Amino acid sequence: MLVKDNQSSKAAIALEDKYGAHNYHPLPVVLKKGEGVFVWDVEGNKYYDFLSAYSAVNQGHCHPRIINKLKEQAETLTLTSRAFYNDQLGVYEKFMSNYFGFDKILPMNTGAEAVETAIKLCRKYAYEKKGISENEAKIIVCENNFHGRTTTVISFSNDETARKNFGPYTPGFVKIPYDDVEALKEVIETTENIAGFLVEPIQGEAGVYVPQEGYLKKAREICAQNDILFIADEVQTGIARTGRLLATCGNCSCPEKNCSGTPEVKPDILILGKALSGGAYPVSAVLANDPIMEVITPGVHGSTFGGNPIAAAVAMEALKVIRDEDLASNAYKLGKIFRKEMESLIEENDLVTHVRGKGLLNAIVINEKEDSDLAWNICVKLKENGLLAKPTHGNIIRFAPPLVMTEEQLMDCVDIIKKTLDSMIQQVDL
Ligand SMILES: Cc1ncc(COP(=O)(O)O)c(C=O)c1O
Repeated sequence: MLVKDNQSSKAAIALEDKYGAHNYHPLPVVLKKGEGVFVWDVEGNKYYDFLSAYSAVNQGHCHPRIINKLKEQAETLTLTSRAFYNDQLGVYEKFMSNYFGFDKILPMNTGAEAVETAIKLCRKYAYEKKGISENEAKIIVCENNFHGRTTTVISFSNDETARKNFGPYTPGFVKIPYDDVEALKEVIETTENIAGFLVEPIQGEAGVYVPQEGYLKKAREICAQNDILFIADEVQTGIARTGRLLATCGNCSCPEKNCSGTPEVKPDILILGKALSGGAYPVSAVLANDPIMEVITPGVHGSTFGGNPIAAAVAMEALKVIRDEDLASNAYKLGKIFRKEMESLIEENDLVTHVRGKGLLNAIVINEKEDSDLAWNICVKLKENGLLAKPTHGNIIRFAPPLVMTEEQLMDCVDIIKKTLDSMIQQVDL
Protein backbone atom coordinates (compact mmCIF):
# COMPACT_ATOMS: atom_id res chain seq x y z
CA MET A 1 0.00 0.00 0.00
CA LEU A 2 2.71 2.42 1.08
CA VAL A 3 4.87 1.54 -1.90
CA LYS A 4 1.98 2.11 -4.27
CA ASP A 5 1.18 5.47 -2.65
CA ASN A 6 4.82 6.44 -2.80
CA GLN A 7 4.71 5.83 -6.50
CA SER A 8 1.65 8.03 -6.80
CA SER A 9 3.52 10.88 -5.10
CA LYS A 10 6.41 10.50 -7.49
CA ALA A 11 3.96 10.18 -10.35
CA ALA A 12 2.19 13.40 -9.41
CA ILE A 13 5.49 15.28 -9.41
CA ALA A 14 6.45 13.69 -12.72
CA LEU A 15 3.14 14.74 -14.27
CA GLU A 16 3.61 18.37 -13.27
CA ASP A 17 7.14 18.21 -14.50
CA LYS A 18 6.19 16.85 -17.91
CA TYR A 19 2.96 18.69 -18.64
CA GLY A 20 3.15 21.90 -16.60
CA ALA A 21 5.28 24.94 -17.33
CA HIS A 22 8.16 25.06 -14.89
CA ASN A 23 7.28 28.40 -13.33
CA TYR A 24 7.59 27.15 -9.73
CA HIS A 25 10.05 25.03 -7.80
CA PRO A 26 7.87 23.38 -5.15
CA LEU A 27 9.08 21.47 -2.13
CA PRO A 28 8.81 17.76 -2.95
CA VAL A 29 5.51 17.07 -1.20
CA VAL A 30 2.20 16.24 -2.90
CA LEU A 31 -0.76 17.39 -0.84
CA LYS A 32 -4.12 15.81 -0.98
CA LYS A 33 -6.16 17.08 1.93
CA GLY A 34 -6.28 20.04 4.31
CA GLU A 35 -8.11 20.80 7.52
CA GLY A 36 -7.43 23.75 9.79
CA VAL A 37 -3.68 24.05 10.34
CA PHE A 38 -2.96 20.60 8.89
CA VAL A 39 -2.39 19.17 5.43
CA TRP A 40 -1.87 15.55 4.37
CA ASP A 41 0.20 14.22 1.51
CA VAL A 42 -0.80 11.39 -0.82
CA GLU A 43 1.04 8.91 1.39
CA GLY A 44 -1.14 9.98 4.31
CA ASN A 45 1.62 11.88 6.16
CA LYS A 46 0.29 14.78 8.20
CA TYR A 47 2.01 18.17 8.32
CA TYR A 48 1.58 21.54 9.94
CA ASP A 49 1.12 24.07 7.16
CA PHE A 50 3.47 26.90 8.04
CA LEU A 51 2.96 28.87 4.83
CA SER A 52 -0.85 29.04 4.43
CA ALA A 53 -0.60 29.26 0.63
CA TYR A 54 1.39 32.48 0.96
CA SER A 55 -1.05 33.85 3.54
CA ALA A 56 -4.23 32.99 1.65
CA VAL A 57 -5.47 30.33 4.06
CA ASN A 58 -5.59 32.54 7.16
CA GLN A 59 -8.89 31.00 8.27
CA GLY A 60 -7.41 27.47 8.06
CA HIS A 61 -7.80 24.83 5.37
CA CYS A 62 -11.35 24.02 4.31
CA HIS A 63 -13.01 26.10 7.00
CA PRO A 64 -16.47 24.48 7.26
CA ARG A 65 -18.37 27.78 7.24
CA ILE A 66 -16.54 29.02 4.15
CA ILE A 67 -16.82 25.70 2.33
CA ASN A 68 -20.54 25.42 3.10
CA LYS A 69 -21.09 28.89 1.72
CA LEU A 70 -19.07 27.99 -1.37
CA LYS A 71 -21.14 24.84 -1.94
CA GLU A 72 -24.43 26.59 -1.28
CA GLN A 73 -23.69 29.39 -3.71
CA ALA A 74 -22.16 27.02 -6.30
CA GLU A 75 -25.42 25.10 -6.35
CA THR A 76 -27.46 28.26 -6.77
CA LEU A 77 -25.71 30.66 -9.13
CA THR A 78 -22.04 30.74 -10.13
CA LEU A 79 -21.49 33.44 -12.73
CA THR A 80 -23.58 36.06 -14.41
CA SER A 81 -20.77 38.29 -15.68
CA ARG A 82 -21.36 41.96 -15.05
CA ALA A 83 -23.65 42.13 -18.06
CA PHE A 84 -26.43 41.52 -15.51
CA TYR A 85 -26.84 42.23 -11.83
CA ASN A 86 -26.68 39.38 -9.34
CA ASP A 87 -28.25 39.16 -5.90
CA GLN A 88 -24.93 38.68 -4.04
CA LEU A 89 -22.71 41.45 -5.37
CA GLY A 90 -24.49 44.49 -3.94
CA VAL A 91 -24.78 42.83 -0.53
CA TYR A 92 -21.07 42.00 -0.66
CA GLU A 93 -20.12 45.51 -1.75
CA LYS A 94 -22.08 47.04 1.13
CA PHE A 95 -20.53 44.53 3.53
CA MET A 96 -16.98 45.32 2.31
CA SER A 97 -17.59 49.03 2.41
CA ASN A 98 -18.69 48.83 6.06
CA TYR A 99 -16.07 46.29 7.06
CA PHE A 100 -13.11 48.30 5.77
CA GLY A 101 -14.54 51.80 5.96
CA PHE A 102 -14.45 52.89 2.31
CA ASP A 103 -17.26 54.23 0.11
CA LYS A 104 -16.78 51.71 -2.66
CA ILE A 105 -15.13 48.48 -3.74
CA LEU A 106 -14.04 47.36 -7.19
CA PRO A 107 -14.06 43.54 -7.22
CA MET A 108 -11.38 41.51 -8.99
CA ASN A 109 -10.01 37.96 -8.77
CA THR A 110 -6.26 37.79 -8.15
CA GLY A 111 -3.83 39.97 -6.26
CA ALA A 112 -1.89 41.09 -9.31
CA GLU A 113 -5.12 42.04 -11.05
CA ALA A 114 -6.12 44.15 -8.07
CA VAL A 115 -2.73 45.90 -8.13
CA GLU A 116 -3.21 46.60 -11.84
CA THR A 117 -6.66 47.96 -11.05
CA ALA A 118 -5.24 50.26 -8.35
CA ILE A 119 -2.61 51.55 -10.77
CA LYS A 120 -5.25 52.30 -13.39
CA LEU A 121 -7.46 53.97 -10.81
CA CYS A 122 -4.58 56.11 -9.58
CA ARG A 123 -3.59 57.18 -13.09
CA LYS A 124 -7.12 57.98 -14.18
CA TYR A 125 -7.71 60.01 -11.02
CA ALA A 126 -4.48 61.91 -11.70
CA TYR A 127 -5.57 62.86 -15.22
CA GLU A 128 -9.22 63.53 -14.58
CA LYS A 129 -9.17 65.06 -11.10
CA LYS A 130 -5.66 66.38 -10.51
CA GLY A 131 -5.02 67.72 -13.98
CA ILE A 132 -1.78 65.86 -14.68
CA SER A 133 -1.19 65.85 -18.45
CA GLU A 134 -2.13 62.61 -20.15
CA ASN A 135 0.55 59.89 -20.14
CA GLU A 136 2.74 61.86 -17.71
CA ALA A 137 1.65 60.39 -14.37
CA LYS A 138 4.21 58.64 -12.22
CA ILE A 139 3.73 56.27 -9.34
CA ILE A 140 6.38 55.88 -6.64
CA VAL A 141 7.18 52.27 -5.73
CA CYS A 142 9.73 50.72 -3.37
CA GLU A 143 12.85 48.73 -4.06
CA ASN A 144 12.44 44.98 -3.50
CA ASN A 145 8.67 45.28 -3.85
CA PHE A 146 6.47 42.36 -4.77
CA HIS A 147 3.08 43.16 -6.25
CA GLY A 148 2.51 40.22 -8.59
CA ARG A 149 3.51 38.96 -12.01
CA THR A 150 1.77 40.92 -14.75
CA THR A 151 3.79 42.79 -17.35
CA THR A 152 3.20 46.18 -15.76
CA VAL A 153 3.85 44.94 -12.24
CA ILE A 154 7.15 43.26 -13.11
CA SER A 155 8.14 46.46 -14.92
CA PHE A 156 8.86 48.01 -11.52
CA SER A 157 10.23 44.94 -9.78
CA ASN A 158 13.93 44.55 -9.02
CA ASP A 159 13.83 40.81 -9.21
CA GLU A 160 15.87 40.11 -12.34
CA THR A 161 14.51 36.57 -12.63
CA ALA A 162 10.97 37.92 -12.70
CA ARG A 163 11.86 40.62 -15.27
CA LYS A 164 14.42 39.25 -17.66
CA ASN A 165 13.26 39.00 -21.27
CA PHE A 166 9.76 40.23 -20.50
CA GLY A 167 10.38 43.75 -21.76
CA PRO A 168 9.56 46.27 -23.06
CA TYR A 169 8.52 47.43 -19.64
CA THR A 170 5.67 49.76 -18.71
CA PRO A 171 6.97 53.26 -17.93
CA GLY A 172 5.65 55.63 -15.28
CA PHE A 173 7.18 54.28 -12.07
CA VAL A 174 9.90 55.74 -9.87
CA LYS A 175 11.63 53.55 -7.37
CA ILE A 176 12.86 54.57 -3.93
CA PRO A 177 14.30 52.56 -1.02
CA TYR A 178 11.71 50.98 1.29
CA ASP A 179 11.30 52.31 4.82
CA ASP A 180 12.95 55.61 3.91
CA VAL A 181 10.86 58.71 4.55
CA GLU A 182 13.65 61.04 3.39
CA ALA A 183 13.82 59.26 0.03
CA LEU A 184 10.07 59.70 -0.34
CA LYS A 185 10.32 63.42 0.41
CA GLU A 186 13.20 63.84 -1.99
CA VAL A 187 11.57 62.05 -4.90
CA ILE A 188 8.44 64.15 -4.43
CA GLU A 189 10.51 67.36 -4.40
CA THR A 190 12.49 66.43 -7.48
CA THR A 191 9.96 64.66 -9.68
CA GLU A 192 6.98 66.13 -11.46
CA ASN A 193 3.58 64.57 -12.01
CA ILE A 194 3.56 62.13 -9.13
CA ALA A 195 0.15 60.55 -8.80
CA GLY A 196 0.59 57.89 -6.14
CA PHE A 197 2.79 55.93 -3.79
CA LEU A 198 2.31 52.14 -3.90
CA VAL A 199 3.64 50.33 -0.85
CA GLU A 200 3.45 47.04 1.04
CA PRO A 201 3.00 47.70 4.78
CA ILE A 202 5.45 44.84 5.34
CA GLN A 203 7.50 43.55 2.42
CA GLY A 204 6.46 39.89 2.50
CA GLU A 205 8.09 38.29 -0.52
CA ALA A 206 11.27 40.30 -0.05
CA GLY A 207 11.76 38.45 3.25
CA VAL A 208 9.21 39.89 5.69
CA TYR A 209 10.79 43.31 6.10
CA VAL A 210 8.92 45.24 8.76
CA PRO A 211 9.44 49.00 8.40
CA GLN A 212 10.39 51.16 11.36
CA GLU A 213 7.62 52.20 13.71
CA GLY A 214 5.93 55.29 12.29
CA TYR A 215 7.15 54.86 8.70
CA LEU A 216 3.74 54.23 7.20
CA LYS A 217 2.13 57.02 9.17
CA LYS A 218 4.79 59.51 8.12
CA ALA A 219 4.68 58.36 4.49
CA ARG A 220 0.91 58.67 4.51
CA GLU A 221 1.13 62.23 5.86
CA ILE A 222 3.66 63.22 3.21
CA CYS A 223 1.39 61.84 0.51
CA ALA A 224 -1.60 63.74 1.90
CA GLN A 225 0.39 66.99 2.07
CA ASN A 226 1.43 66.61 -1.56
CA ASP A 227 -1.90 65.41 -2.96
CA ILE A 228 -0.44 62.01 -3.80
CA LEU A 229 -2.57 58.90 -3.43
CA PHE A 230 -1.31 56.50 -0.77
CA ILE A 231 -1.93 53.00 -2.11
CA ALA A 232 -1.52 50.13 0.35
CA ASP A 233 -1.02 46.67 -1.08
CA GLU A 234 -2.34 44.48 1.73
CA VAL A 235 -2.74 41.37 -0.43
CA GLN A 236 -0.37 39.47 1.86
CA THR A 237 -0.47 41.52 5.07
CA GLY A 238 -4.23 42.02 5.21
CA ILE A 239 -7.10 40.03 6.72
CA ALA A 240 -5.67 39.63 10.23
CA ARG A 241 -2.32 38.14 9.19
CA THR A 242 -0.20 40.66 11.08
CA GLY A 243 -2.28 40.71 14.25
CA ARG A 244 -4.70 43.39 13.06
CA LEU A 245 -7.38 43.33 10.43
CA LEU A 246 -4.99 45.33 8.24
CA ALA A 247 -1.30 45.99 8.75
CA THR A 248 -2.04 49.67 8.11
CA CYS A 249 -4.50 49.80 11.03
CA GLY A 250 -3.26 51.36 14.19
CA ASN A 251 -6.42 51.32 16.19
CA CYS A 252 -8.68 51.41 13.22
CA SER A 253 -12.43 51.62 13.36
CA CYS A 254 -12.91 48.20 11.82
CA PRO A 255 -15.54 45.98 13.40
CA GLU A 256 -13.02 43.65 15.00
CA LYS A 257 -13.11 42.92 18.66
CA ASN A 258 -10.41 44.77 20.61
CA CYS A 259 -10.11 47.26 17.83
CA SER A 260 -11.68 50.67 18.05
CA GLY A 261 -10.59 54.22 17.48
CA THR A 262 -9.33 56.11 14.52
CA PRO A 263 -7.28 54.57 11.72
CA GLU A 264 -3.57 55.16 12.09
CA VAL A 265 -2.85 54.95 8.41
CA LYS A 266 -5.87 54.92 6.21
CA PRO A 267 -4.83 54.52 2.60
CA ASP A 268 -6.54 56.32 -0.26
CA ILE A 269 -6.61 53.02 -2.12
CA LEU A 270 -6.56 49.65 -0.37
CA ILE A 271 -5.71 46.45 -2.25
CA LEU A 272 -6.82 43.07 -0.86
CA GLY A 273 -6.66 39.48 -2.08
CA LYS A 274 -5.57 36.05 -0.88
CA ALA A 275 -7.29 35.50 2.52
CA LEU A 276 -10.27 37.56 1.43
CA SER A 277 -11.72 34.18 0.48
CA GLY A 278 -9.90 32.11 3.10
CA GLY A 279 -8.09 30.45 0.21
CA ALA A 280 -11.29 28.87 -1.10
CA TYR A 281 -11.62 30.91 -4.28
CA PRO A 282 -9.68 33.64 -6.12
CA VAL A 283 -11.10 36.91 -4.79
CA SER A 284 -9.44 40.31 -4.71
CA ALA A 285 -10.66 43.84 -4.25
CA VAL A 286 -9.70 47.48 -4.53
CA LEU A 287 -11.33 49.91 -2.12
CA ALA A 288 -11.47 53.70 -2.24
CA ASN A 289 -13.77 56.59 -1.44
CA ASP A 290 -16.14 58.17 -3.95
CA PRO A 291 -13.97 61.07 -5.15
CA ILE A 292 -11.45 58.51 -6.38
CA MET A 293 -13.71 55.64 -7.38
CA GLU A 294 -16.08 57.84 -9.38
CA VAL A 295 -13.53 58.04 -12.23
CA ILE A 296 -14.53 54.46 -12.95
CA THR A 297 -17.41 54.49 -15.41
CA PRO A 298 -18.98 51.76 -17.57
CA GLY A 299 -16.49 50.25 -19.97
CA VAL A 300 -13.29 51.63 -18.48
CA HIS A 301 -12.37 48.51 -16.53
CA GLY A 302 -13.75 45.06 -15.85
CA SER A 303 -13.38 41.32 -15.51
CA THR A 304 -15.77 38.52 -16.45
CA PHE A 305 -15.33 36.84 -13.08
CA GLY A 306 -14.77 39.90 -10.87
CA GLY A 307 -17.65 40.20 -8.40
CA ASN A 308 -19.21 36.85 -9.27
CA PRO A 309 -21.80 35.44 -6.85
CA ILE A 310 -19.53 32.69 -5.49
CA ALA A 311 -16.71 35.14 -4.82
CA ALA A 312 -19.10 37.55 -3.12
CA ALA A 313 -20.71 34.91 -0.89
CA VAL A 314 -17.41 33.24 -0.01
CA ALA A 315 -15.59 36.49 0.80
CA MET A 316 -18.36 37.69 3.10
CA GLU A 317 -18.28 34.42 5.03
CA ALA A 318 -14.47 34.40 5.15
CA LEU A 319 -14.48 37.90 6.67
CA LYS A 320 -17.19 36.96 9.16
CA VAL A 321 -15.00 34.04 10.27
CA ILE A 322 -12.08 36.45 10.83
CA ARG A 323 -14.28 38.55 13.06
CA ASP A 324 -16.22 35.79 14.85
CA GLU A 325 -13.09 33.81 15.69
CA ASP A 326 -11.14 36.94 16.54
CA LEU A 327 -8.25 35.74 14.41
CA ALA A 328 -6.43 39.07 14.49
CA SER A 329 -6.02 38.79 18.26
CA ASN A 330 -4.89 35.19 17.96
CA ALA A 331 -2.31 36.14 15.33
CA TYR A 332 -1.11 38.98 17.55
CA LYS A 333 -0.76 36.75 20.61
CA LEU A 334 0.83 33.76 18.87
CA GLY A 335 3.16 35.99 16.86
CA LYS A 336 4.66 37.40 20.04
CA ILE A 337 5.19 33.92 21.47
CA PHE A 338 6.69 32.68 18.21
CA ARG A 339 9.23 35.49 17.92
CA LYS A 340 10.22 35.09 21.57
CA GLU A 341 10.80 31.38 21.02
CA MET A 342 12.86 32.09 17.91
CA GLU A 343 14.92 34.68 19.81
CA SER A 344 15.76 32.03 22.37
CA LEU A 345 16.68 29.63 19.58
CA ILE A 346 18.99 32.22 18.05
CA GLU A 347 20.88 32.47 21.36
CA GLU A 348 21.66 28.77 21.21
CA ASN A 349 21.86 28.01 17.49
CA ASP A 350 24.21 29.88 15.15
CA LEU A 351 22.31 28.68 12.12
CA VAL A 352 19.78 31.48 12.56
CA THR A 353 20.74 35.13 12.89
CA HIS A 354 17.43 36.99 12.97
CA VAL A 355 13.74 36.65 13.42
CA ARG A 356 11.38 39.39 12.31
CA GLY A 357 7.73 39.89 11.60
CA LYS A 358 4.37 40.95 12.94
CA GLY A 359 1.51 38.77 14.05
CA LEU A 360 1.86 35.47 12.25
CA LEU A 361 3.83 36.82 9.30
CA ASN A 362 7.39 36.07 10.32
CA ALA A 363 10.72 35.05 8.88
CA ILE A 364 14.01 33.73 10.13
CA VAL A 365 17.29 34.59 8.47
CA ILE A 366 19.72 31.74 8.00
CA ASN A 367 23.40 32.36 8.64
CA GLU A 368 24.45 31.84 5.04
CA LYS A 369 24.85 33.73 1.80
CA GLU A 370 21.74 34.47 -0.27
CA ASP A 371 22.67 31.98 -2.96
CA SER A 372 23.23 29.12 -0.51
CA ASP A 373 20.82 26.21 -0.59
CA LEU A 374 20.88 25.79 3.19
CA ALA A 375 17.44 27.36 3.72
CA TRP A 376 16.00 25.01 1.10
CA ASN A 377 17.65 22.02 2.80
CA ILE A 378 16.26 23.15 6.16
CA CYS A 379 12.76 23.29 4.63
CA VAL A 380 13.20 19.77 3.24
CA LYS A 381 14.22 18.61 6.73
CA LEU A 382 11.31 20.48 8.32
CA LYS A 383 9.04 18.66 5.91
CA GLU A 384 10.49 15.32 6.97
CA ASN A 385 9.77 16.37 10.55
CA GLY A 386 6.16 17.32 9.82
CA LEU A 387 6.16 21.05 9.09
CA LEU A 388 5.86 22.75 5.70
CA ALA A 389 7.58 26.06 5.05
CA LYS A 390 9.42 27.57 2.10
CA PRO A 391 12.41 29.87 1.68
CA THR A 392 11.68 33.30 0.32
CA HIS A 393 14.87 34.57 -1.24
CA GLY A 394 17.81 32.28 -0.61
CA ASN A 395 18.60 32.46 3.05
CA ILE A 396 15.26 33.58 4.48
CA ILE A 397 12.48 31.21 5.58
CA ARG A 398 8.99 32.63 5.91
CA PHE A 399 6.78 31.25 8.66
CA ALA A 400 3.09 32.04 8.21
CA PRO A 401 0.75 29.38 9.63
CA PRO A 402 -3.04 29.62 9.45
CA LEU A 403 -4.36 32.00 12.09
CA VAL A 404 -6.64 29.35 13.59
CA MET A 405 -3.60 27.73 15.22
CA THR A 406 -3.78 27.10 18.96
CA GLU A 407 -0.96 27.94 21.35
CA GLU A 408 -0.36 24.25 21.95
CA GLN A 409 -0.01 23.61 18.22
CA LEU A 410 2.31 26.57 17.86
CA MET A 411 4.56 25.22 20.62
CA ASP A 412 4.57 21.87 18.87
CA CYS A 413 5.75 23.64 15.71
CA VAL A 414 8.39 25.56 17.64
CA ASP A 415 9.62 22.23 18.93
CA ILE A 416 9.87 20.84 15.38
CA ILE A 417 11.73 23.94 14.19
CA LYS A 418 14.17 23.84 17.10
CA LYS A 419 14.85 20.11 16.77
CA THR A 420 15.33 20.42 13.01
CA LEU A 421 17.75 23.32 13.30
CA ASP A 422 19.63 21.63 16.13
CA SER A 423 20.02 18.47 14.07
CA MET A 424 21.25 20.49 11.10
CA ILE A 425 23.84 22.61 12.82
CA GLN A 426 26.01 19.54 13.25
CA GLN A 427 26.09 19.04 9.49
CA VAL A 428 26.90 22.61 8.57
CA ASP A 429 30.23 24.34 8.55
CA LEU A 430 29.42 27.98 9.31
C1 LIG B 1 1.89 42.13 -1.63
C2 LIG B 1 1.40 41.28 -2.76
N1 LIG B 1 0.75 41.86 -3.78
C3 LIG B 1 0.29 41.15 -4.81
C4 LIG B 1 0.49 39.78 -4.88
C5 LIG B 1 0.00 39.01 -6.07
O1 LIG B 1 -1.08 38.22 -5.76
P1 LIG B 1 -1.54 37.05 -6.75
O2 LIG B 1 -0.49 35.99 -6.66
O3 LIG B 1 -2.87 36.59 -6.22
O4 LIG B 1 -1.63 37.64 -8.12
C6 LIG B 1 1.15 39.15 -3.84
C7 LIG B 1 1.38 37.68 -3.88
O5 LIG B 1 2.15 37.11 -3.15
C8 LIG B 1 1.63 39.91 -2.75
O6 LIG B 1 2.29 39.35 -1.74
